[in-house]
Amino acid sequence: MTNVVVIGSQWGDEGKGKIVDWLSERADIVVRFQGGHNAGHTLVIDGTSYKLSLLPSGVVRPGKMAVIGNGVVVDPHALCAEIDKLAGQGVTITPDNLRIADNATLILSLHRELDGIREDAAGKSNGGVKIGTTRRGIGPAYEDKVGRRAIRVMDLADIDTLSAKVERLLTHHNALRRGLGEPEISHDTIMQELTSVADRVLPFRDTVWLMLDRERRRGARILFEGAQGSLLDIDHGTYPYVTSSNTVAGQAAAGSGMGPGSLGYILGITKAYTTRVGEGPFPTELTDEIGQFLGERGHEFGTVTGRKRRCGWFDAALVRQSVATNGITGIALTKLDVLDGLDELKICVGYTLDGEEIDHLPASQGQQARVVPKYITLEGWKESTVGARKWADLPAQAIKYVRQVEELIGAPVALLSTSPERDDTILVTDPFED
Ligand code: GDP
Ligand code: IMO
Ligand code: MG
Repeated sequence: MTNVVVIGSQWGDEGKGKIVDWLSERADIVVRFQGGHNAGHTLVIDGTSYKLSLLPSGVVRPGKMAVIGNGVVVDPHALCAEIDKLAGQGVTITPDNLRIADNATLILSLHRELDGIREDAAGKSNGGVKIGTTRRGIGPAYEDKVGRRAIRVMDLADIDTLSAKVERLLTHHNALRRGLGEPEISHDTIMQELTSVADRVLPFRDTVWLMLDRERRRGARILFEGAQGSLLDIDHGTYPYVTSSNTVAGQAAAGSGMGPGSLGYILGITKAYTTRVGEGPFPTELTDEIGQFLGERGHEFGTVTGRKRRCGWFDAALVRQSVATNGITGIALTKLDVLDGLDELKICVGYTLDGEEIDHLPASQGQQARVVPKYITLEGWKESTVGARKWADLPAQAIKYVRQVEELIGAPVALLSTSPERDDTILVTDPFED
């Protein structure tokens, strides 16, 4: 039985939520394996829009099991708020359709605060580096996880050990806060924060690796839902302008507890142009009226923070890199409709760095800032592709653009998306087909 891993192949916001929702009809279980509520996924179903941050996009479909794996950082208060918001839209979430790994790390208010402190004053308290984070506490929570002092979901069930763990955590954080000139945080404050949500969170806890292993053996189809994008990966991304987790497909195994041999089809969600939110290098960025056109037509505003996304031409060199670092089997090309009406389209095929031609983005921050994109130019199309549901609905030039993308990135298009609506999707190859 094929399982499918969905990941973003650019800087996030490629349309993963829409595609995961669409694919989840074919799946039994949908698993988040990294990131936290820094993700913002918008699904549109029959005109109704659902915005998800922490919950897997499969939750809106009745009868599917949604799972938050151990690789995710969970803000318990944000989790409860998201569950309540969805309840208001008629989506009921109970332990029958949501499980949370008992070994997942918790995000606390002190993480969120620290994230904000570092971002404020143009990052002065972070050595002058402003990342433009979502201020959700993601980075600080992962730091505590790797520092082996994190509070995890299972700790909420054991008040005695929780108290000692909070004490240890605060020894670290209060030292840090004193250095930053911030007031110290009391043990009681954090204990109160945690015990106030324990009763709501604990019913969802599960030994996720065990449950997934049992389900896999039973023949269940598992869909892994990545957050962010490959260029935001802590190792493979544009460091330090990245998120604090591995976002590449390999993390689906480590972040859920299922062995890599069972991952199956790797579907890279790829926007037909490029966007980025937050700071950092962006070789094909367009600061002219075309960039503005893409932003307006594509409604490129962050789901989480409402920030304007930076827009640019499709960068085939970057996506080719993602095809390699993720082992992408095929891509879902989204937002093709946003390019309708442009006279010509450019695609970046590689870069020039200090006069030399290179075919990938180098790892060095200084070099990333200096690369100059090399473009090919394609003729645009005047017809509308909005809502197209089959190849035959696409103008010849749009098909040419898609074929050119496939050739340059070295991976085929499995799905094409032509509007935010769930069903405005063209299926070329079914990733779940055995
Ligand atoms: P994610 O973070 O990868 O899940 O993507 P987001 O949901 O943050 O951003 C993608 C945005 O594009 C959302 O508002 C979607 O509703 C929208 N979207 C997804 N696919 C398409 C498409 O094919 N065409 C258009 N016009 N919008 C799309
Ligand atoms: P989805 O899942 C786009 C960006 C932030 C910032 C950097 C670090 O919707 O694609 P963080 O809060 O993670 O420490 O911020 O990463 N970022 C995203 N950009 N889409 C996302 O998620 C993102 N999640 C984080 O803007 O530049
Ligand atoms: Mg998003």
